[in-house]
Amino acid sequence: MDSRNIVITGFMGTGKTSVGRRLAERLGLRFVDMDSLLEERFQMSIADVFATRGEAFFRQAERELLAELRSATDTVIATGGGALLSTENRSLLPPDSIVVCLTCQPEEVLRRLANDDSRPLLAAADRLQRIRDVLAERKAIYDTIPHQVDTTGLTIDEVVDQIERLYDVMSSGCYDKYPS
Ligand code: S3P
Repeated sequence: MDSRNIVITGFMGTGKTSVGRRLAERLGLRFVDMDSLLEERFQMSIADVFATRGEAFFRQAERELLAELRSATDTVIATGGGALLSTENRSLLPPDSIVVCLTCQPEEVLRRLANDDSRPLLAAADRLQRIRDVLAERKAIYDTIPHQVDTTGLTIDEVVDQIERLYDVMSSGCYDKYPS
């Protein structure tokens, strides 16, 4: 395989950043966390970008960053949870990337994000219901991603093990392209 990019996507709280960072360390690849890079560039948190500039502005910045990352090589990219929901954004992925969607049961997402108020889209009185609702809206799109890893009840290392095995199989020859 020429390209060695792995894209980690999926809902908020599924562990994209932690998994992506550790996977990159293990495989000796570069690591890019899209949200952290955007926060660095805007010199403010994602929550503040939403609050001061609005979601549409954030989505545009996210799209532009994906376009920049199209030429990435030897990189693990952790996307924001909404980054690959649009067809246009999926078409911007580096060619021949392995795209992995992390999933997690809503109750565990709630637990993982219990002390975290950095997700503007989850600001709601009934957070579990909000997680269920947003997940339900997005599920059909997340499900189109060929490689899915259910992280419920797993440690970061256990998730990374699974992706590493997948990476070894893909590197040895046959792999699905996404988007096709
Ligand atoms: C979002 C997920 C967040 C961040 C923004 C929007 C989403 O990233 O990009 O708050 O639409 O799912 P994480 O998935 O890393 O929380």
